[in-house]
Amino acid sequence: MKILAIESSCDETAAAVVDYKSKKFTVLSSVVSSQIEIHKPYGGVVPELAARNHIVNIMPVISQAVKRSGLSIKKVDRIAVTAGPGLVTSLIVGLQTAKSLAYAFGKPLIGVNHLLGHVYSPLVLNQKIDLPAVSLIVSGGHTELIFLKTLNNLKKIGQTVDDAAGEAFDKVAALLNLGYPGGPIISQLAQKGDSKAYNFPQPMINSADFNFSFAGLKTAVLYTVKKIEKIDQKIKQNIAASFQQAAVDVLVNKTIKAAQKYQAKTITLGGGVAANKLLRESLAKQAELNGFKFFTPPINLCTDNAVMIGAAAAFAKPSNWQKIKADPNLEIK
Ligand SMILES: Nc1ncnc2c1ncn2[C@@H]1O[C@H](COP(=O)(O)OP(=O)(O)OP(=O)(O)O)[C@@H](O)[C@H]1O
Ligand SMILES: [Mg+2]
Repeated sequence: MKILAIESSCDETAAAVVDYKSKKFTVLSSVVSSQIEIHKPYGGVVPELAARNHIVNIMPVISQAVKRSGLSIKKVDRIAVTAGPGLVTSLIVGLQTAKSLAYAFGKPLIGVNHLLGHVYSPLVLNQKIDLPAVSLIVSGGHTELIFLKTLNNLKKIGQTVDDAAGEAFDKVAALLNLGYPGGPIISQLAQKGDSKAYNFPQPMINSADFNFSFAGLKTAVLYTVKKIEKIDQKIKQNIAASFQQAAVDVLVNKTIKAAQKYQAKTITLGGGVAANKLLRESLAKQAELNGFKFFTPPINLCTDNAVMIGAAAAFAKPSNWQKIKADPNLEIK
């Protein structure tokens, strides 16, 4: 089954063609046009600017993805598009484009939950995953634990009660005047810092549920920063390393506990924060020590892309395309 997938939920315009055959994915093409440079001066994504740039980029990105796949749109079996969650004006650009293509070429259309894209992203290269599995999704807007009984039967078992992990990385970077997006900058600085220099809290690490909280950790960094008269590079490195360690410890600890409780065979990791080296390495190590298999996709499939939207669409049924709506608050139930 050949799928043309389109993603425009935030500030990346992306398109990909994937082939799902005999339970294996082949990525025929993947194009991502990032708007990071456009939003950098504002310290975050400006929704209106994002939507305007999606309008400019979307057809060239789709044309390039189709061209690089060696196919024509006529040859694809279905079109997939992110229907939510995300910025509504950004979502509408992708969705309306996908609807127009589905109508013009007479193709079935799948509206995909972006978070399911992150959940299914590890399947693209690790074709076979022993189930049941627990999936940790950590991104700019979400931090969730998903239980996959089968590939078609999944439910949310925990989530952040306040900030997402990626949001905390971005806010701590802003507190230290490091620029945007903060996650990659913090993780780079942290490599030269001492993770024990500051004793930041690890919120909810021992709570009985599988929920997370990162607002308190971010506030603890704020109070620490306020008390320091002159913040030099070494202090920045130490704060970054101590913050990162606290956040990663909570994520890893809760994920292992969830996998144990749900008797999972495999742990998977997806979402933009899954690009974090310490998180990837710590979760891989703890998964192995506790007898779980572990899969996370390469970094280009962790941050937003359309390949993962195509992967999620392989497990969905097409619905009446006129009924697919952009839903900024779409959830995994
Ligand atoms: N190396 C890294 N370490 C920590 N965080 C990172 C790293 N690389 C990226 N991030 C964070 O990942 C987030 C972006 O992830 P992603 O693109 O999946 O989010 P999003 O699509 O905006 O949100 P969502 O998927 O929840 O809708 C940002 O918060 C960014 O700082
Ligand atoms: Mg995302």
